[in-house]
Amino acid sequence: MTAAGPELPEPRTDGRYAVALVCLGNICRSPMADVVLTARVEEAGLADRVTVASSGTGDWHVGNPMDRRAAATLVSAGYDPSRHRAQQFAATWLDEFDLVLVMDESNLVDVVSTSSTTGGDSSTTGGDTRVRLFRDFDPVEPGGEVPDPYYGGDAGFEEVLTMVERTAASIVAQLGLVLE
Ligand code: 4NP
Repeated sequence: MTAAGPELPEPRTDGRYAVALVCLGNICRSPMADVVLTARVEEAGLADRVTVASSGTGDWHVGNPMDRRAAATLVSAGYDPSRHRAQQFAATWLDEFDLVLVMDESNLVDVVSTSSTTGGDSSTTGGDTRVRLFRDFDPVEPGGEVPDPYYGGDAGFEEVLTMVERTAASIVAQLGLVLE
């Protein structure tokens, strides 16, 4: 597929790229995006050059596996959610990852405020930011949020998977261009 969305920031290390996915709890949205993006990276033959990780801005679920509804949605679509354990976002991620993709506007506020309170990479608050909404790369409806499915029903998890699959494909197309 063709690459959609904004250009990726330059990698910090030539020939390698690290993408972080961030939500609130790291048990629903960002782990689903992590599993799907990792699968697309592997299919594209980029696994030796691209690192994918996820975290949550909150610490409630640290060490826990994925929400069972998120895991079931992934299994139904042929993915393996079993390796995920929740971890908390830290400002150091802003220095380690080339791109930090957040699921919603409140994640964006939380991630950027982590940076300004702890002295993280200043590029995250400038115009050429390494922190963006995940759906800035959505080829169908760019720029929206990935809605939090935690308090809703199963349909919310299906909706997240649909958004994540098409957006992950776009991101991998862009990664192919940056790493070629
Ligand atoms: P996530 O969903 O941010 O997509 O992982 C949530 C998971 C847990 C909570 C909120 C959102 N919580 O309040 O515990």
